Formats: sequence, C-alpha cells, structure tokens
Amino acid sequence: MTTISHLTCEYQTNPLGIDVLQPRLSWQLQSERRGARQTAYQILLAPSEAELDMDASLLWDSGKIQSDQSIHVPYGGPSLGSGQRVYWKVRVWDEAGEETESSSAWWEMGLLERNDWEAQWIGASFFGGPRTSSPSPYLRKEFTLQKELVTARLYATAIGLYECYLNGVRIGEALLTPGWTDYCKHIEYQVYDMTELLQQGPNAFGAILGDGWGVGHIAWVGRQRYADRPQFLAQIVLIYSDGSKEIIATDNTWKVTTGPILESDMLMGESYDARRELIGWDRAGYDDRRWWSAEVIADHDAALVATNGPTVKRQEALRPLKIRQIPDFVNPRWIFDMGQNMVGWVRLCVRGEKGRTVTIRYAETLNPDGTLYTTNLRTARNTDHYTLKGEGEEVWEPHFLFHGFRYVELLGFPGVPTEETIIGFVIHSEMPSTGMFECSDPLINQLQHNIVWGQKGNFVDVPTDCPQRDERLGWTGDAQVFIRTAAFNMNVASFFTKWARDLEDAQYPDGEYPAVAPNPSAWSIGDGGPAWADAGVIVPWTIYLCYGDVSLLEARYESMQRFIEFLSETSKNGLRCYAEYTGWHGFGDWLALDGSDGREGGTSKELIGTAFYAYSSRLLVNIARILGKEEDSIRYSDLSEKARHAFIQRFVREDGKIEGGTQTSYVLALEFELLPQELRHLAAAELVRNIRERDNHLSTGFVGTPYINAVLSKMGHLDTAYALLKQTTWPSWLYSVTQGATTIWERWDGWTHDKGFQDPSMNSFNHYAYGAVGAWMYAVTGGIDLDPDQPGYKHIIMHPLPGGGLTYATAELHSMYGMIRSAWRQENGAFDWQIMIPPNTSATIYVPAKDASHVTENGHPVEKVGGITFLRTQNGSAVFDVRAGSYSFSSQLDKTT
Ligand code: BGC
Repeated sequence: MTTISHLTCEYQTNPLGIDVLQPRLSWQLQSERRGARQTAYQILLAPSEAELDMDASLLWDSGKIQSDQSIHVPYGGPSLGSGQRVYWKVRVWDEAGEETESSSAWWEMGLLERNDWEAQWIGASFFGGPRTSSPSPYLRKEFTLQKELVTARLYATAIGLYECYLNGVRIGEALLTPGWTDYCKHIEYQVYDMTELLQQGPNAFGAILGDGWGVGHIAWVGRQRYADRPQFLAQIVLIYSDGSKEIIATDNTWKVTTGPILESDMLMGESYDARRELIGWDRAGYDDRRWWSAEVIADHDAALVATNGPTVKRQEALRPLKIRQIPDFVNPRWIFDMGQNMVGWVRLCVRGEKGRTVTIRYAETLNPDGTLYTTNLRTARNTDHYTLKGEGEEVWEPHFLFHGFRYVELLGFPGVPTEETIIGFVIHSEMPSTGMFECSDPLINQLQHNIVWGQKGNFVDVPTDCPQRDERLGWTGDAQVFIRTAAFNMNVASFFTKWARDLEDAQYPDGEYPAVAPNPSAWSIGDGGPAWADAGVIVPWTIYLCYGDVSLLEARYESMQRFIEFLSETSKNGLRCYAEYTGWHGFGDWLALDGSDGREGGTSKELIGTAFYAYSSRLLVNIARILGKEEDSIRYSDLSEKARHAFIQRFVREDGKIEGGTQTSYVLALEFELLPQELRHLAAAELVRNIRERDNHLSTGFVGTPYINAVLSKMGHLDTAYALLKQTTWPSWLYSVTQGATTIWERWDGWTHDKGFQDPSMNSFNHYAYGAVGAWMYAVTGGIDLDPDQPGYKHIIMHPLPGGGLTYATAELHSMYGMIRSAWRQENGAFDWQIMIPPNTSATIYVPAKDASHVTENGHPVEKVGGITFLRTQNGSAVFDVRAGSYSFSSQLDKTT
C-alpha cells in the first residue's frame, strides 16, 4: 500500500503568506514495497478543503500527468491574488497502476503588490539623530470588532526588529523578525493568523521595536547602518462574514512611548527596568493619553517581500549543569555552566527588592582562574541587566538579541541561585533536522555533535561566521565551505534561497561578490576574493544538487554570469591576477598554519584564485546546460579550460609537484580536476607525503580543509583520510573535541596546553567552517551520496568506505523523497549493511566484497533477489543497482579486501 505524506509548498508545510507566484509543490511516497515508485500524478486545487472533492469548484486540475516527478511541481493554475488561500491534494499512481490520494494541504499568498499596503512606516519622533543606544519604542492601537469575523491576518515588518501583541498575548513564535536583509533593497514581512486572538468589541494591538541589525551595532561598523531609529510597518486585515473587509494600518493615529527596555542591542545586550513596565499597555482600555502620536516616516524604495522560508524560533531549552560561586564578599558572582556552547539567551527567575539590578554576562569559556573569558568578544559587551520591581517571583528574558555562550555569570543576584534560576533558550532559524550520523568512535560522534551545534548557533536568519564577538556577519567563504554539510544536517534549502538573494543584493555593479552578505558597509573592497566570492555560484549549485532545485539556479543565473565575467575581466589568459586589478589578494587559505603570519596560510593566492576561477566557471557550464543555455555554456567552458591551462602552466611541474607544495594546493588541484590525468596520482602521492611528514596532521585552512578527505578517499588514500580524521593532536578535527569542545572552533589552536588562548582578536569557539568535514563523514564513512545527474537524491550513490578501525556507522538523511538510511557493521571479516532507499528513487550501491558471489541479501544470494541488478566489481566492491526499499546485505570479506 502506498501512501502520500510530507506535502510541501516551497519546502514548507502549509505556508502562510508567500509571494512565489508559481509555487512548487512536493510530496513523498511512503511504502514498504521494493521498487515502489510513482508513474503518474494529478494535482487538484480548490478554494476550500471541502471543494477539493467538487469538480465544479476546482481552481486547477493538472490532469493525470504521466511522470515520476514528485518534487518541485510548479503550480500551473490561474494566477492567485494577494491573501488568497488555496487547498490542494495530489493523486498518485504507483508502478502497479494503483491510485492513492493524499490528504489536503494549503498555502496562502502574501501581499503581492505594493499598493496592497495601506500601512505607513511609523516610529517615535523623539528618536532621531545619532545615538549610542535607544530605549525600545512601544506602539499601540485600539480598534473595535462589530461584525462577525471570518479571518484576521497581520502583515508586519520593521527596520530594526519587532514583536507584536494582541490583547496581552504575543502573536506568533517568530523571533528577531523581520530578519536581516539589505533593507535598502529587500525588506521581508511576516504574516500571522490572528483570527483566534481577536474578540468582539474592543481589541488592543501592541508592538515593541528593537534596534536589531537595522539600527543597532553590527560587527565593527557601529550603529545605525540602515536607519537612525526603528521603524514599523503593519496592517491587520479583517474579513467579516458579510464579505466586507477592514484594514487597521500603521499611521499617525497609533500611539508610542518607551517602557522598561532601556536598551536592547544585539552585540551589547539588553537593559530592562521592570519598575518601568507599562502594565496593561497591550490590552483594551489602557490609558495612553500621555503617549505620543507615532511619527509617519517617508516610504522606502526597498521591495517588500514575503518571508518564503524559515524564521528564527526558540528550539530547545537547556538547564545549567553546574553552578559555582566566585568568592567575593562584596559582590558575589555566580557562574553557571550550561554544558553546551549555545546561542540564544537565558531566562532569569528572581525574587528580591525593588530597584536591585542583576547583571548577566555571557562567555564561551573560562579563564584559568575560573572567571569568564570575554576578551575574544572584542567590543561586544554581551551583558544584560535586569532591574527588579520587587513583586514576588520575577521571570524575565531579553527581547531583541542573541548571545553565544556556554557560561553565564550573575552579579547582584539576591541570595543563592539554584538550577531553577536560569534556563537557556537555544534559538536558530527553523530548519527541519534531516540528518543523523553515528559511528563506533565516541570522539567522532562528539565531532558530529559539535558540527550540528555550530550550525544551530550560526544559522540565525543568515549564515554567520560566529555568534559571540562583534562580527556575526554572513561571511561568504564560511557559508560556501559548510553548505554541503549543512544540507545533510538540516533542510537548508529555503534558508540559502533567501541568503542567495542577500548575496545578489550585496553584489557590486561590476559583478564582484563581497566577502559578506548582507553587507552593511562592512566590506568595502568589492571582491570577496577566491573561495569567498565563489559562494555566489557554489551556494545555488549545492542547493540544486541536494534538493533538485532548478528555480534557484534560474533566479541567480544572471548574477552568477556577472560574477564570472568579472573574473574573466580581471584575469590574464586564465590566470587570476586580481591584485593587479583590484589591489586585493583575497584571504588565502584562511587560518591555515603553514603560512608565515598564522592567518593566510602558505598557499599562493593566485593559485587559489585560478583554481576557483576554473571551478566556478565549470559549475556555470553545468548550470547553463541545465537551464538550456547551450551558447553560454560554451563560453564558460572556454573560460574554465583557459583557467585550467593557466593553472597547469603556472603552478604544476611535470612530475606532478605543485608550486609551494602545500596540502591545500594539491587538494584544490585534485578536487577541482585541474590536472592532466597522468599527474593525478603523482599529485595525490605528494599530498600523502606531505601529510605523513607532518605526522598525519592537517596544514589546511578554510579553503583546503573541506575537501581534503574527499580527495584522499577518491584517490585511493583512505587510510590517510582516516588517519587525519582520527588525529587528536592539533591541527586536527578531534583536537578541540579532546579539549572538551561542544562546538567547532575557529582555529585549530584556539587553546593549547603550551600557549593557552590564541590571539583574542580572532578566537571564536563557535565557527562552523572546519565542520565541513561532516559531509565526508555522511558520504564516505556513512555511505550516502548523491548523483549529480539526478539531483535531490533521485538517484543515490551508496558507497561506504569503512576504515579507521570503525566497527559500525549509521547515516540517515531525510531527503526530498524520504528517508535514506545506511547502517553498516563490520566484525570478524563480516560486513553487514542495512540500507533504506525511499520510494520513487533508486540507488547504485557498493557492497564491500570480493565479488557478487560473496554477497547475500537477507540471507539469500543476491542474484536470486528481485530488484537488485549486478553492475560490476570495482576496487573491492560489488556494485549493484537497487530499487526503492529496505535491504539487508551481508558479505564475507577475506582479510585482504
Ligand atoms: C571571520 C571569518 C571570515 C574571515 C575572512 C573572520 O573575521 O570570522 O570566518 O571568513 O574573517 O577573513
């Protein structure tokens, strides 16, 4: 029996308020049957759930389409209007011609036209001009419901941040809205269903504004990068049962004042004085005569766009593991260990006298004397203050910020705190968890844990480098190196779809992509440099590979073209000579330890630049072909080949040695397939020699590290790859794990026994870049990989390469088609492998075995089992094609395989 589940529209379940005009619909087939697949589908769409069963009321009937497409089927019905909600379901015919029908799902359009907005931007007039910090404005508006209500929607956005309330209740769960974009170009709005919150008669709507990215401190560039005060734009759309519509929109009839939030800044922290609370301000009947009228602010040119992806939400709560007092009679300090380097904040629970202030400080780690280590935060104060009102138990948490921390210090706490005093809330963009990796080595499992937590902490509306110091920028290089790993751990398709637009917004007119996006003038050089700027191509390409998403390639195509043209214009016969054109050399192999300054590594920047030029232009060849732009693909193929030749001529010797001889130079040459075939093995041998000379240690930075193990395993040096993975002294992935890390460190030597802390000006303990090895763990140790010719895991490559003494590994990936699973165990020469291939997909699998006759499935010789086709024997594996389903393979390995 086949059933249909996971109906999504633009990757989301029942999205409220999107502005994709032809949204793409996806579903998953569920079946235990081997070979289960879809042969045809039919999509039905109607204005209500009930009308889905009434032919005459359908808005769209796709008809029965003979196709196995079950992801990203574009809506093909009549155009939909602003606020229109539609319901849909799908019928599927399986390989036996059996028909099944899904339950229904819906999506609702947002506001599609600028003139759908009656609202005006408002703020507090008393806030203009340069300031070092500003109290949060509180806004309110009362209105009366006199007719029977059918639906109520809130459309809201801000420059700065907002939180909304209705009749005393917080609206929605989204945090740090409207998120971070280049507010001069795109401002995202969010949509909320308020129907249940409204009541007949008087209602009160309230909003609190924060500084956020729009007004508060960003990185090292100061405050007020986009506006000098927070601004709010919102309208409530009420639909009554008589068919009429009423809009309550922000304008100068709204009232504004300030209250208890004296300051709330992402980098500095929040100061809250509970004595100044405005009791009842968000309820009807509150006396706001002493409030000011809101100031109407001139409209912005930026496009108002819907949030088509995740918002930031509260995800987990952590209780402290330990509490310790720092002895001090006058000012006792209490240090809480949350047990995990996390991103979010703590909720404080306190009783005490009115006017007392509790100060909360945050840090990732401790000094040797047990005090908070905060020097690596640079100018970020990361300090919250709560002043008590003195009325019994007071529970408080900050509003418009996040901190990156494992340790929390309370100063001024009345009495002795307990485990109940604080609770840590972990926040990040809401991306469904899709991956799992586990193996027999606990240190590698902790590494996986650290990679996932690095992702949680740094995927906060934009992919940031780190969450704690005065930086937290959308570094393009970091995002690019980590995206493939990220796409195993969580569904990051919409998250990166949004950020790819941020990157285009940040692109310079001549095609350069900067090093950060959004770019709040933090990056003025223009070109972000090789491996950073290339995110503009690599990010859409990776989302295409992992999710089969062609729309993103289409949307960003023209921008990618401009970038490649920029590279071509600033190269000489394929060689990147950007320094000559722009004066900027790029970051090199950032933080590699084989250079002279400990920052930029020892690999030539022109080598890195030329390698990435060849690579990115080759990706654009593929992209042009996918989009049917054959002529373009010829041009990019020429550019790519030219760069490849330039690379060989300039950097490669006839014996396969590469100039400079760094690990990263070999890694790039091999991973990007720049070398003539006959030199590949020689180059790989050089790489291995280099690693051995360093006693199996890495000397790679951000650029080489993501690919090094993939190159080694591809080139037949699996032992060396595992030796690197299992290395516990630095530089290595497991060194920080052995030091108790719970996230990935920015630097291999963030802290060492002999030197202590690295340079505090750049020493984050939560930086995901080096976690990029995770993709290799899933794909090579775990055995789940994709086939670029059938992206989105439509066809799966399962080729686990056990090694490093591991006795088992399990990898899972919830793909667009459903759950892919690979779980192997190796003991006494026997290899047991359970795999799961979702309906409507197939896989090529590599069973470690001398040949097919050594392989059984569920105890039967494979040739007797239906659904399995033997392809070949290759390098110690029997290779088969298998159809969807669950399988249990065993093979007897003799000791030499
Ligand atoms: C950031 C990085 C970034 C780098 C570029 C650092 O300050 O934290 O992760 O990629 O600068 O050089």
